[in-house]
Amino acid sequence: MTQPTENRPAARGFASDNQASVHPDVLAALAEVNDGHQPAYGEDAVTGRLRDVVRRHFGARAEVFPVFNGTGANVVSLQAMSERWSSVVCPESAHINTDECGAAEKIAGLKLITVPTPDGKLTPDLVERYAVGFGNIQRRLPAVVSITQSTELGTVYTAEETAAVAAAAHERGLTVHMDGARIANAAASLGVPLRALTTDAGVDVLSFGGTKNGLLLGEAIVVLNPDTVRGMAYLRKSSMQLASKMRYVSAQLVALLDGDLWLRNASHANAMARRLEAAARAVPGVAITQAVQANTIFALIPKDVAERLRKRFPFYTWDEATGEVRWVCSFDTTGDDVDAFAAALAAEMAG
Ligand SMILES: Cc1ncc(COP(=O)(O)O)c(C=O)c1O
Repeated sequence: MTQPTENRPAARGFASDNQASVHPDVLAALAEVNDGHQPAYGEDAVTGRLRDVVRRHFGARAEVFPVFNGTGANVVSLQAMSERWSSVVCPESAHINTDECGAAEKIAGLKLITVPTPDGKLTPDLVERYAVGFGNIQRRLPAVVSITQSTELGTVYTAEETAAVAAAAHERGLTVHMDGARIANAAASLGVPLRALTTDAGVDVLSFGGTKNGLLLGEAIVVLNPDTVRGMAYLRKSSMQLASKMRYVSAQLVALLDGDLWLRNASHANAMARRLEAAARAVPGVAITQAVQANTIFALIPKDVAERLRKRFPFYTWDEATGEVRWVCSFDTTGDDVDAFAAALAAEMAG
């Protein structure tokens, strides 16, 4: 691991997998394609290879559109899946609702129908309850159900749960978008291929996450059912998500997906989360508030303890009202990082 310098502290905290470093294989892949000229805007050989790799994972109909970030993947996807009079049903906790600065509303002109959930997950019943108002011109027409895998609350939809939500959406004429910023963590947690949670479960469009799983930057829209989108290529450009030097985004995604780097990184992050969960559960007074099914842990600890702890180990307070905190493990979190944090937590709680 890197040594601390004035500009580059080596400490790893638990604030976000976005704060993690870049996997060395990804940096190597960037160096490898950094030779000569290649056609721009996705006409390059590396992006061609990415298309093949993505079809291997997601099926022969899958079409991949690399983008810069997760907000872009979500907003471009939702635009391509909807009309100007559409609404999108999603959990209240969805990133598209809470942490994208209203991009779905501003850029895509969509209305979000937000559903309160205890665990960040939609169910067929919730889809039935909230996807309403069809044919009523006073209301936006529900067009898309958007779910997040793994969820913003660190929980995971099984393949069966995903298929049930997708069936409920499809029965009502809605299509299904998955925000897969952490889909690798979900697949690793369940021990299933990516396709089992997406194509085979009836998901129509996936925002595939790379940044949180070891990339420098880069995500991909993966259209699983091309019948459910329109104008994707145009919308990506007009939404400022078309990289001219696309080979550098594609090379990172190939590095992640061609072998098993996606799975190794995600499995490691999940294992670190399980290790931290076990240690935290052993500390009197710490309450774990969500099932730990991927790489994120939610806990209730006293606010003064959180304040003191985060001076050494950065992490976020998730809910200011209750003091609930969020700890995220990454592909580069080490067992020592977890043990040091858990020891500090135990000491603070005892003190
Ligand atoms: C669930 C989820 N979706 C999407 C994103 C992508 O966000 P960004 O636009 O910052 O890449 C994030 C990032 O934190 C996320 O947690």
